[in-house]
Amino acid sequence: MTRFESVAEAIGGTPLIRLTKTGLRPRIYVKPEWYNPGGSVKDRAALSMLRAAEASGALAPGGTVVETTSGNTGIGLALYAAHLGYRSVIFTSSSISKEKRDLLVAHGAELRLVDAFVPKTHPDSLKSVAERFVASTPGAWLANQYDNPANPAAHVATTGPEIWADSEGSVTHFVATVGTGGTISGTGRFLKEASAGAVRIIGADPATSSYSGGDGSQKFIEGAGHFVHPLADEDTWPESLDLTVIDAYSPVTDAEAIATIREVARTEGILAGGSSGVALAAGLRLAASLDESATVVILLPDSGRAYLSTYYNDDWLLANGFRTEAGDVVGAVAAPLRTIGRSRTGASAAAELVAAGAGEEPVAVLYERERTTADPHHADVAGWTTAARLAEAGTAADAALPTPVRLGAGESRGAAAGRAASVDPDWQVALVLDEGRVRGLVTRARLEQATDAPH
Ligand SMILES: Cc1ncc(COP(=O)(O)O)c(C=O)c1O
Repeated sequence: MTRFESVAEAIGGTPLIRLTKTGLRPRIYVKPEWYNPGGSVKDRAALSMLRAAEASGALAPGGTVVETTSGNTGIGLALYAAHLGYRSVIFTSSSISKEKRDLLVAHGAELRLVDAFVPKTHPDSLKSVAERFVASTPGAWLANQYDNPANPAAHVATTGPEIWADSEGSVTHFVATVGTGGTISGTGRFLKEASAGAVRIIGADPATSSYSGGDGSQKFIEGAGHFVHPLADEDTWPESLDLTVIDAYSPVTDAEAIATIREVARTEGILAGGSSGVALAAGLRLAASLDESATVVILLPDSGRAYLSTYYNDDWLLANGFRTEAGDVVGAVAAPLRTIGRSRTGASAAAELVAAGAGEEPVAVLYERERTTADPHHADVAGWTTAARLAEAGTAADAALPTPVRLGAGESRGAAAGRAASVDPDWQVALVLDEGRVRGLVTRARLEQATDAPH
């Protein structure tokens, strides 16, 4: 059917598209969810949650739709709230991209920017601020996609049946990322039931995500995986996630996900987003181990159009260590990463550094996690310090100085020195990123000595 009487009816019914250039033996289909009106898989959950709230009376005419999100669920909710005549208020972090902000505002959403980098339970967290707003606003309803059964239910009702029907029951493996878990839980549940348990459900997961056993450290790919705030007391998983339907996880690094979508854009002509890269990398790895009898379906949550300034942008790749320039690069003059935990006593940390012969070197002060982060993301770094500063301080946290400057290991030194000075004219120590992880530190003196850039 290609005629719809409203935008709400146009959700779902996304196609299966076969990949033709992989050279692998199974049939591999992708399901591009950017064919939905709001441009992502989250349209399905957004409308389903709105309809369920209307049915239960939680949302009534004149009501306000509220959600905490930096991404696609907010766009879906804003779009369908507009369509259904509700006010929408989206609480999000000020670090979200301009394009995403503009999209939300285009659908009439009111944006409330919350900046605090604190765990969910903290009174200043996005979640706490939104809950206070809902409590004090008559008619307000919090969608809460993480714990809302209408989220996975959308996929039991639509995504699963579509894949089963369009593959004519031939699907043997379904690969999807796990954010709230709505997509994989609902689709997986339907496919398991339809196939009497035969379809294998694979959770494609960012390598650091705690779902697949990672330490919960941040990553660049948005939407997929589970990040644990370094200061959180516990790692709470969403109720939308049904662990019983997932047969196996396949961990994928940011670098693999990015390389995969760039390759698929150039070979297949399919422009997919970052979490799609996690799903594609896992799906292709799986398909390489299967034969002609298999049909692999890989769900692609959103399009690459929202990521043209990041994963598809060479300068961004360079600045985050995903690409290397020819010639003298930053990585060659950076000191290997040396770290101490934020709660370490200053004097003992200083003594240890001096004993290790690193009394003069900058060290990174890390937020501490239950599972140690051997390979930190820049969000794991609370600052930098030195033995001299530590000797004077109570704890490493007291001795930490901010690190606003991040350089790519593969950036040429001259350009990097210029870029660092434009980010912070007074910078002293920069984090050096290799494939998106902090793998070293470089002092301004060392970098400028090693370049002919103006000092
Ligand atoms: C880009 C992107 N990828 C993946 C997901 C994960 O989907 P789900 O929350 O259904 O697990 C989301 C969810 O917000 C998303 O926005």
